[in-house]
Amino acid sequence: MLPAALLREELKLPRMAEIDLVRHFTNLSKKNFSVDSDFYPLGSCTMKYNPKVNEDVAALPGFQKIHPYQEDETVKGILELLANFEKYLCAIFGFDAFTLQPCAGAHGELTALLMMKAYHKDKSKIQNPKSKIIVPDSSHGTNPASVSMVGYETVVVKSDPHGNIDIDALQKAAGEDTAGLMITNPNTLGLFDEHILKVAEIIHKVGGLLYYDGANANANLGICRPGDLGFDLAHFNLHKTFSTPHGGGGPGSGPVGFKKKLAQFLPRVHAFHGNVGVIIKAYTYIRSLGAAGLKEVSENAVLNANYMMKWLKDHYYLKYDRTCQHEFVISGIWQKEKYGVKTLDIAKRLIDYGFHPPTIYFPLIVEEAMMIEPTETESKKTLDAFCDAMISIAKECETNPELVKNAPCNAPVKRVDETRAAREPVLKWLAGA
Ligand SMILES: Cc1ncc(COP(=O)(O)O)c(C=O)c1O
Repeated sequence: MLPAALLREELKLPRMAEIDLVRHFTNLSKKNFSVDSDFYPLGSCTMKYNPKVNEDVAALPGFQKIHPYQEDETVKGILELLANFEKYLCAIFGFDAFTLQPCAGAHGELTALLMMKAYHKDKSKIQNPKSKIIVPDSSHGTNPASVSMVGYETVVVKSDPHGNIDIDALQKAAGEDTAGLMITNPNTLGLFDEHILKVAEIIHKVGGLLYYDGANANANLGICRPGDLGFDLAHFNLHKTFSTPHGGGGPGSGPVGFKKKLAQFLPRVHAFHGNVGVIIKAYTYIRSLGAAGLKEVSENAVLNANYMMKWLKDHYYLKYDRTCQHEFVISGIWQKEKYGVKTLDIAKRLIDYGFHPPTIYFPLIVEEAMMIEPTETESKKTLDAFCDAMISIAKECETNPELVKNAPCNAPVKRVDETRAAREPVLKWLAGA
């Protein structure tokens, strides 16, 4: 309760009974969309189910009530857990060591690029001899952004007709000034780069380092390890692959794995051990599934994505028609050209059917892209219902395009001016607004 002196009448706060307030917030909370309420096929985000046991373990008093400044003697349990977690990551991904400090995927990218820069500086007699990082044109936006943050220059290399990085173009781009290459595999098209060993050879030949953006590792668990494919460093998104809540549900964690030769260049990017609560949840996930369970995760994630892709490709254009990994990219270009319905409209119409839209307009190399990632945690019934909705919308584009162009019709908020919402956000409650 606020003291009387602090109460301000001029605020004109609404006055109501407790039950009305409870109903107001309960009904508002029901308008939230989450993995716990509905299907969330947001490509590249791996919005899988977050098992509740992870939360229970992270909430144990022995973990929750400790403080980083306690004497080591009194926190042996968590130190053992962190050391074991590092060992598990090394075994799963094939690296020699990990830092658990980075608190997001992009933070991991920055950490790894700082290591690359320090490594090259140490190896060379001249200041900053290597200044360029190669990325494929399918790369995630955080990759070139992280490159700029460390003062390197990005060189973009095109993809070939099969969705792999174009080997001839890579040969031409790689040279004395190449510090390294950043690539996610499977890439953002959901396709495994078939020439990854050749890519590693080309980059290593010019003295560069190979960086693995592990945001898409949900397809690889127990199947292949980036450390064995020639990668020198990598980050992994615990909040995706290892089922910790994200996207408004919780903070992230992006540990960086590296080969021994890079250990001495490790920077300090966060206090203590990073987001320890997130690490405990990911540790619980790994322990509850075990090695065989993790492999099954990836097998089922890949199976689910291929099942949906096969079904939807008759109704939406599929630019790269080959077996996908844990996600796939279809396009709304047919609907745009024939009926004037854009991919944004299709995404909005999915809200009326009760589904979170997929990632749209990314990757940039597919026009009118829709990137769909079902994850392994969804049932066949859910996948079928989503495909039915997509097919139904494709029919609506043909028979009633205006309906799709004006969607969502049933949502509490209709079309918003997204540019204005981003540029002029209203972040506080205003009486009468
Ligand atoms: C391929 C890829 N790389 C990097 C990132 C960045 O990860 P974070 O959002 O945790 O910073 C993402 C996130 O969506 C991603 O999909």
